[in-house]
Amino acid sequence: MRFGLLLSSLLGLDGGPIGMDGALTTANVPAKFLDDVYFVGHVPLMALQVDPRISYALYVPESQYNPDPDGEGPNSSTAKKLPLLVYLHGTGRSIVAIYNELVPFADSTPCAILAPLFPAGMDGPNDIDSFKELRSESLRSDLGLLSVLDQVAYRWPGIETDKVAMMGFSGGGQFVQRFLYLYPERLAVVSVGAPGRPTFLDDTQDWPVGVADVDTVFNRTISTESIGDIPIQLVVGSEDVELHGDEEFWEWEREVLGSGGLPPMNETRLESIQELHTSWEQAGIASQLDIVDGVAHNETGVRKTVLQFLQPWIQKMS
Ligand SMILES: *[C@@H]1O[C@H](CO)[C@@H](O)[C@H](O)[C@H]1NC(C)=O
Ligand SMILES: *[C@@H]1O[C@H](CO)[C@@H](O)[C@H](O)[C@H]1NC(C)=O
Ligand SMILES: *[C@@H]1O[C@H](CO)[C@@H](O)[C@H](O)[C@H]1NC(C)=O
Ligand SMILES: *[C@@H]1O[C@H](CO)[C@@H](O)[C@H](O)[C@H]1NC(C)=O
Repeated sequence: MRFGLLLSSLLGLDGGPIGMDGALTTANVPAKFLDDVYFVGHVPLMALQVDPRISYALYVPESQYNPDPDGEGPNSSTAKKLPLLVYLHGTGRSIVAIYNELVPFADSTPCAILAPLFPAGMDGPNDIDSFKELRSESLRSDLGLLSVLDQVAYRWPGIETDKVAMMGFSGGGQFVQRFLYLYPERLAVVSVGAPGRPTFLDDTQDWPVGVADVDTVFNRTISTESIGDIPIQLVVGSEDVELHGDEEFWEWEREVLGSGGLPPMNETRLESIQELHTSWEQAGIASQLDIVDGVAHNETGVRKTVLQFLQPWIQKMS
């Protein structure tokens, strides 16, 4: 918590982004050099200035990007910002999709793609899961992502960051699902893929199982009305029916690492996403449940279904 407070004060939540003083931006670098400084196309994996444990990859389709929409160029009156799709990695931390599968999508939609990277081990040598829970001893990954968005907004004024599209699968699906509860005002559309251990809107259990203590943990109030205004896809493979780890594994893990944080996985992802769908419906939150035939716990297997859902909404953002 100590660090959480420090981070939020550094993040300048009530001011501009911190750590970007004197930074080059696409508005102050001559347009003909943007490629040479790696500000368009595939941007090199970049450290977050206020917390370099966190980094991000960004893909900016050059032909679709206006580097200075607030400038006095000939096209400024019609200047439009490029929508942003945020791609959340899973427990494996692979962001390879931003270098292949998502590129044609970004070029044709069009949109920019941001892939934040929260390494395992940020909260100690055995830490794998803390980024999904949004808070741990030393990290508020929700504030981390908001800070990444601030940094992107500063350097790339032609990218829209106030409201973004967001997708994640497995551990990434858990992150997206929890971020949606806390920051619906920052989201235009979301796809939540196969979250193994989701958070339910349960007022009797504490975070991350339920939401009873959200006010004290995050200083946020959950608004089912605002969440319900967002187009939401829940997506899972019809064959995503294997538990991660058996009973013996979870018992061993509890003995070695102690309890706390996410509970053992006791339901398949196909079961838990259907429960989530039903419980949201009861809370007045509509979502589209897509069960992709013949696919197991495979992010690439559901990709087409995800992008088909997101594309028309992203096109409406611009
Ligand atoms: C202005 O828009 C026209 C037509 O879309 C385009 O050909 C031209 O390159 C643009 N100029 C600048 C400076 O962006
Ligand atoms: C909690 O949120 C309120 C409203 O956004 C803000 O005024 C207050 O400073 C926050 N408190 C802390 C401890 O961050
Ligand atoms: C599964 O785990 C959740 C969270 O700890 C718990 O609320 C639920 O009762 C468990 N279900 C079963 C069938 O054990
Ligand atoms: C995941 O799905 C993709 C696309 O359908 C397929 O090419 C790949 O073989 C699948 N991976 C596994 C491990 O089944």
